Amino acid sequence: MVGFPVPSSVGAVIELLKKSRYAIAFTGAGISADSGVPTFRGPNGLWRRYKPEELASPWGFQRNPRLVWEWYAWRMRIIARARPNPAHYALAALESMGVLKAVITQNVDGLHQRAGSKRVIELHGNIWRARCTRCGHKWLLKEPPSEDELPLRCPRCGALARPDVVWFGEPLPERALREAFEEAEKADLVLVIGTSGVVEPAGSIPVYAKRSGAKLVNINPEPNRYDDIADLNVRERAAPFFRKLMASMGIAMP
Ligand code: APR
Repeated sequence: MVGFPVPSSVGAVIELLKKSRYAIAFTGAGISADSGVPTFRGPNGLWRRYKPEELASPWGFQRNPRLVWEWYAWRMRIIARARPNPAHYALAALESMGVLKAVITQNVDGLHQRAGSKRVIELHGNIWRARCTRCGHKWLLKEPPSEDELPLRCPRCGALARPDVVWFGEPLPERALREAFEEAEKADLVLVIGTSGVVEPAGSIPVYAKRSGAKLVNINPEPNRYDDIADLNVRERAAPFFRKLMASMGIAMP
């Protein structure tokens, strides 16, 4: 601990991390907000401006695949310009210290991996992966597709491709969901960061962890569904909070 007064919530979270035997993180769009990636339901969230059923659903894609690809290519351009922020880096540092065992994320932006996190369970897929609607082939996109490439076609069979993300009305990847609940069962501490928790089944994971005996730390500038069951509500933006936490733990920011 560096020798200056540690803000109370930072100190409390450090104490909980020190006492934990199996800490995990559960993250949502809010952890990437400080990297400039728009959330879905905040004041200028994506669902305030666009209709999810048109852009993030199988029927919307069927109706207008080009429009859906244009929207994802726009989001990919924003994410390509984004950088991980202190919250992403803190989770990666806590993992390399052996304190954090996994990050379960609803995000598709890949910023946890870019910050150095190794064990990342992506419940809703990854915007940088495409999937063929016919042969199932998956491949990584190194950069956002250009306008003339849209709608993207499978390099193997030429059929229509789609973003390899989970849309409304679709099941989550079975293995990711199973692993997430296994981690939630093992956890004795869950850092719930930047999520409204309104989307299921992902939103139930912190509740399940709590029922399995874990303590919850809920890091969010706004109230959310976890307020009443959290052991500690940190009413702060994730990036400044984790910048203070890393400074207090003497962890250098990359
Ligand atoms: N730091 C921490 N939390 C923040 C920050 C910040 N800087 N800025 C906003 N938040 C919080 C908001 O208060 C809100 O509770 O992040 C949360 C974002 O909520 P949503 O926009 O609903 O995002 P998320 O919870 O990830 O949504 C879950 O819904 O549409 C689907 O697939 C999509 O994965 C997404 C899922």
